Amino acid sequence: MTDLSSEIDIHKDYNLQKHNTLALPACAQYFCAVSNLDQLHQALSFAKANNLAITPLGQGSNLVLAGDITGLVIALELKGIEFEAQGAERVLVALAAGENWHDSVAYCLEQGFFGLENLALIPGTVGAAPIQNIGAYGVELSDFFVSLTAMDIAKGELLQLTAKDCEFAYRSSIFKQQAIDKYIIVSVCLELSRTPQVNADYPALKLALGGAKPSPKAVFDTVCSIRREKLPDPAEIPNVGSFFKNPVVVKAKVNQLLSDYPDMPYYSQSKDLSKIPAAWLIEQCGYKGYRQGNVGVHDKQALVLVNFQGKGKELLALAKRIEDDIKQKFDIELEVEPRIYGQPS
Ligand code: EPU
Repeated sequence: MTDLSSEIDIHKDYNLQKHNTLALPACAQYFCAVSNLDQLHQALSFAKANNLAITPLGQGSNLVLAGDITGLVIALELKGIEFEAQGAERVLVALAAGENWHDSVAYCLEQGFFGLENLALIPGTVGAAPIQNIGAYGVELSDFFVSLTAMDIAKGELLQLTAKDCEFAYRSSIFKQQAIDKYIIVSVCLELSRTPQVNADYPALKLALGGAKPSPKAVFDTVCSIRREKLPDPAEIPNVGSFFKNPVVVKAKVNQLLSDYPDMPYYSQSKDLSKIPAAWLIEQCGYKGYRQGNVGVHDKQALVLVNFQGKGKELLALAKRIEDDIKQKFDIELEVEPRIYGQPS
């Protein structure tokens, strides 16, 4: 891990537009970037001395800035990847929080550390990955997760949390629930395989791979091309990926809907529960490709809201309209997936 200590620069009234992939214009009352633990301590001391709330930030790929953020925003830029072989078959990989997630997936694949290929091209940093337990194409971070090191914000002390401590669930963890705003994640340890291990069961992936048992590199390349086809690149069309979670409903509800919509896709989760793609629900309400002022719904994937130089307030108004229509049409409540920060002005 990087460990060169130097003074941090603290900026006042700092525009966060370049620090969130929705490119929403909002300011942080105070902002600093930290690239090692000493700098993180300095930032925490500054916040304590000035009685400021702390908002940790990765690459801003899963947040909606509804308005300005009071207190100190700390961009986590800690870098470093270390690994330790666990016999011939397994390897532990420790990744610093500020590493880019996709680059880390590519790096692990190059080293011959397999497992993360399905999670290629997910925007954001390593440190943000456990918060929503990132997942794609049949795989979730929790499948590889061993532990993480976090800074307890109130105590200014480091501690380790195991997978059990993190209480991972679908797009959720303690960091979105009871431990919200309590910790800053500084590194994540994953266990990967040193022999190729692929998971190609997700329908769209299976279809694109076309039958043969694929190599990890083929899975990685195929996931990248599926994502590039459907999901807008935040650098070109500002977005935060899926704006809503896929709702999990009881089987009776699925059966009721199937009688009206026999082609409705759904995925069984357990004996009693199924997941319905929110993208399908949104598309049924006529929103795919819809534009409302300076915000809209992506034309290739209805679960992605996009920003055409609008404000957080407009985006949240569109999200609310979609939620209301889906509630009315299907009696299903959608849950917003990214975290909303700041008060609309
Ligand atoms: N569909 C539609 N309309 C659309 C898009 C999709 O009806 O515009 C239907 C299709 O029937 C499709 C089904 O929805 O078969 C599922 O679509 P897709 O495979 O694109 O996945 P998703 O459920 O929409 C989830 C994740 C994505 C992840 C993909 C692939 C959530 C909230 N989203 O989307 O994650 O990449 O599966 O695993 O679970 C993210 O979290 O930001 C994200 C992009």
